[in-house]
Amino acid sequence: MGVLSGNYWQDTLCTEQNPEPGVLVIFGASGDLARRKLFPALWALCRRGLLCAGARIIGCARHEYTTGSFRAELATALNVPAAEQEAFSGFLNRIEYCRLPTYDGEAGYRELGAALDACDRQAGAPLPRTFYLATPSALYREIVPQLAAARLLAAVPGSAAWRHVVFEKPFGYDTASAEELDALLHRYLSEDQIYRIDHYLGKDTVQNILLLRFANLLFEPVWNFHYIDQVQITVAEELGVESRAGYYEQAGLLRDMFQNHMLEMLSMVAMECPAAFSADAVRDEKLKLLRSIRPFDCDRLGHEVVRGQYTAGNGMAGYRQEPGVAPDSTTETFVALRLWIDNWRWHGVPFYLRSGKRLTRRESEIVVVFKPVPHSIFAPLRARDLQPDVLRLRVQPEEGMGLTLQAKKPGPKLCMGALTLNYNYREAGGEPLSAYARLLLDCQLGDQTLFIRSDIIAAAWRLFQPVLDTWRDRPELSSLQEYPAGSRGPAAADRLLAETHHAWLDGDS
Ligand code: BG6
Repeated sequence: MGVLSGNYWQDTLCTEQNPEPGVLVIFGASGDLARRKLFPALWALCRRGLLCAGARIIGCARHEYTTGSFRAELATALNVPAAEQEAFSGFLNRIEYCRLPTYDGEAGYRELGAALDACDRQAGAPLPRTFYLATPSALYREIVPQLAAARLLAAVPGSAAWRHVVFEKPFGYDTASAEELDALLHRYLSEDQIYRIDHYLGKDTVQNILLLRFANLLFEPVWNFHYIDQVQITVAEELGVESRAGYYEQAGLLRDMFQNHMLEMLSMVAMECPAAFSADAVRDEKLKLLRSIRPFDCDRLGHEVVRGQYTAGNGMAGYRQEPGVAPDSTTETFVALRLWIDNWRWHGVPFYLRSGKRLTRRESEIVVVFKPVPHSIFAPLRARDLQPDVLRLRVQPEEGMGLTLQAKKPGPKLCMGALTLNYNYREAGGEPLSAYARLLLDCQLGDQTLFIRSDIIAAAWRLFQPVLDTWRDRPELSSLQEYPAGSRGPAAADRLLAETHHAWLDGDS
C-alpha cells in the first residue's frame, strides 16, 4: 500500500525506457545552456543507463575547439567525482566536436554531414538524428535552412530513422514574430519533427499533476467549481536578472515565464481528461483549455494584471542598476494576474498566477483551495471558521505535495486543527532526474507529449498579445509597481486578490 507521507512505493507502472541508438547534435555546444544543463543531464542519463551504448553526441559551435579540447572543457565543467571517472571517460568518448565557422555558411554543415554519415556507417544502419538548437533563437533562421540545404533533415528512404529538431524558447517575441517563426520552421519540417521545449514540463511535480488527477478517483470528482474555490500558481525566484540583461530587456517577465511555463502548468491543472496519455491527446486538451481562458479586459487591465519591477533592497541592486539594463527601463520583473476560464468546470473560479525575480525566496507551487463546508456541526465554530482544505503541489525547491485538512487534535473533545499530510519526493528515495534529463530522454525516445505544439504557442500569444500592446500603448492602465529586491513583490499583487476576497497563500502561511 502506498502512503502519502513516508517513503514506501509500490510500483504500478514504470515506463523508464532505454532508447535505441541515435545521434544527438547540440548546436551552441560551447554556450551556457549546454554546459550548465544539457551535458550534465546527458551524463545523468548515462549514469542511469539511459543513454544506450550506441548513442553518439556531436557538439557544434563556432568556437575553435577540437574534440579533445572540447572533452577537456566538459570534464572541467562537470567536475565528476573520482569514483565515477571511469564511467565518465566512457561518456566523454561518445562526444565529438564539429566546428561551424558560421551558422549560415555551408562549410561546417558538410563536415557535420560527414560526421553523421560516419556514425551511420559505424552502426551499420541509418541512425535517428536529433538536432538540439541550444542557441539564441535568432539563429534558428540560419541553422534550419542550412540543415535542410545539407539534406540533414530529409528522411532516408526505407528507414524509420527520424530527423527531429529541438527548439528552446522564446518562440517569437509577439504574435507576428511567432507566426513568422512557425512558418519558417514548417517550410523545412513537419510538426512531428519539431520539439519545442519547456523545461517546466520535465519537472516531476508538474507531470505529477496529471497522475494525481487522472490515476486516482479521489480528486477528479471534486476538481471543479462545485468544490474548488480558487487556484494559485506561483513561481518565485530569488535570483535577479543575472547576466541575461540583453535578452531580458527585450523579453520581460510576461514573455519569459507566462507565455510558456505558467500557462503550461495552468493547463495541466485545469484541462479536461485526455483520452490517452499520448502526445496529441494531451495537447488537444491543453489547447481547448487555453482557448477557454477569458480574454483580459484591457480597459481595466490594472484590475486584472499587476506588473512590477524590483528596486534596490536588502543589500541588492535594483533592476535598473543591473549591468546591461537601461537606467530608465520599464521592463517588468514581476507579474501577478487573475484569470477566468469560461467553461462549465471552472465557472466562477479565479485562477491567480504570479511570478517574479528577486523575491524573498525561491519557491514555486500550485495551491488548490477547496470551498468551505456548507454547515458546521461543531458549535461554536461556524462553517466559515473552519479552514478550507488545501492541496499544495510543490514544484521547487523541494518537489512534493501537501494536503491540509481539518482534523481532531489529541486532547479534549473539541480540539480541532489544520493537519498537513506531507509528501516529499527527495525523502521518498530514488534519484530524481533533472527536468532537462527527463526531456532529453523523451527526445531520444521520440515522444512529443511533453513538448509544445505550434497551435498551443499561437493560443498563448493570442491571450497575452493584447496585454503587451496595452502596456506599450496605454501604460497608465497598468503602471509599473516597484518592489524592493528580496521582498514578497508589490503590494498591488495583494490588492489584486483582495478585490476578489482572497489572499496569497504563501508556503509559510
Ligand atoms: C527560464 C527563464 O525559462 O526559467 C528564466 O528564462 C527563469 O528567467 C527560469 O529563471 C526558471 O527556471 P527554474 O527551473 O529555475 O524555475
